[in-house]
Amino acid sequence: MAPSKSQFATLDKSGKEIKTVGFERFGFDCEVPLDVVRSIYLNPHYVRSANSTSPKPGEQSTEDSNSNAIYYPDTQSISYTTLTRFPPVKLLAPEKRKRVLVTGGAGFVGSHLVDRLMLLGHEVTVLDNFFTGSKTTVGHWVGHPNFELVRHDVVEPYMTECDQIYHLACPASPPHYQFNSIKTVKTSFMGTLNMLGLAKRTKARFLITSTSEVYGDPEVHPQPEDYWGHVNPIGIRACYDEGKRVAETLTYGYHRQNGVDVRVARIFNTYGPRMNPLDGRVVSNFIMQALRGEDMTIYGDGKQTRSFQFIHDLVDGLIALMNSDETRPVNIGNSDEFTIGEFAELVREIVEKVQREDGTPARHRVQIVYKPMPQDDPQKRRPDTTRARQVLDWQPRWSVRMGLEEMVRYYKTKMEEGSI
Ligand SMILES: NC(=O)c1ccc[n+]([C@@H]2O[C@H](COP(=O)([O-])OP(=O)(O)OC[C@H]3O[C@@H](n4cnc5c(N)ncnc54)[C@H](O)[C@@H]3O)[C@@H](O)[C@H]2O)c1
Repeated sequence: MAPSKSQFATLDKSGKEIKTVGFERFGFDCEVPLDVVRSIYLNPHYVRSANSTSPKPGEQSTEDSNSNAIYYPDTQSISYTTLTRFPPVKLLAPEKRKRVLVTGGAGFVGSHLVDRLMLLGHEVTVLDNFFTGSKTTVGHWVGHPNFELVRHDVVEPYMTECDQIYHLACPASPPHYQFNSIKTVKTSFMGTLNMLGLAKRTKARFLITSTSEVYGDPEVHPQPEDYWGHVNPIGIRACYDEGKRVAETLTYGYHRQNGVDVRVARIFNTYGPRMNPLDGRVVSNFIMQALRGEDMTIYGDGKQTRSFQFIHDLVDGLIALMNSDETRPVNIGNSDEFTIGEFAELVREIVEKVQREDGTPARHRVQIVYKPMPQDDPQKRRPDTTRARQVLDWQPRWSVRMGLEEMVRYYKTKMEEGSI
């Protein structure tokens, strides 16, 4: 069984309990209770086991928002139903309510951004071709009067009326963006061109989620926004790295030539619930391997360093940036640096702790094993987040340990449900 909300407290980096995520900045209220956000992804309420007791017809559900979908463990099948009640959203006055377009809104980052914007009371349209995203990540909003889900490939133009565009559509993990590298470049270039064209026509504010990969294998540590990067233009990662670089170039082209109001977020490694457990990113790999009792694989000698930020911090940063006046690129990431080796040990320790707390201790300690490093894997990357601190009043609140606990609980819940 998944732990109930009250069974564990989540502390921020200074040891204070985290009760809400987001806060008001630039006249845009962004605060919602953590319990409400968490109830959307952490409680196993989308999938009720056939063996558990479901409310009878006409009976009030015990959860505020509940799908009553039934999972049949024997046949590993699920019988979906629509929600009996949507999660509670703020009632905003029409002049405060934004019409927000989120491309790639069915992906990992996008779905959390959508949850937050919906809870805050805005009207959200998700545009996604479901290449790496899935309807299930935003399925709890389908049918809500403030929500629209559109299957669309951003490589093709799209017309709508909107006030803000968060342009996220692009596969983000190496196996996915390398699966069809030409399509990745096309998505980055043509998708961004189309969405900038839409922003120009509607006068919507446009935010693109760029990446720390624009710095390539950096020669400067930590990386400030004015570092131009060190990217291999023909390597296997180039479709993504150069794709994002040209997407930034297009963004500033539209800004200078057409006066489009732009925001550029350079996101560093992010992790959190709903990350695809099979997409080869280091955090999900480690957690899934440890939860399954398999060896944890480190590529290289484990001395390469990474910094990891938790998804709720990233969403706060994106919303703050969108509503600020900052048109220069802004790094959004957590600068607490770990070697991959240290990180693997931390994940193993947290998985063991959660298993013990849930009364399901592992039968044996998983081993950490080493394999050769893939081509072009950067050795070291860490954000300089001075600009985000100064202009957005933003800094990460979630410690890596707390974020990992949340993520381990999420994967564990999903594994117990049988949905991953
Ligand atoms: N997660 C991270 O650590 C990270 C780091 C840096 C940058 N980013 C950026 O953040 C954004 C979201 O990343 P994510 O981790 O959520 O990845 P993701 O793969 O989970 O989400 C990407 C979403 O875009 C959709 N998509 C892809 N190609 C599309 C197309 N042509 N048309 C319409 N939809 C399309 C996918 O179906 C998916 O829903 C990406 O732009 C990524 O480059 C993420």
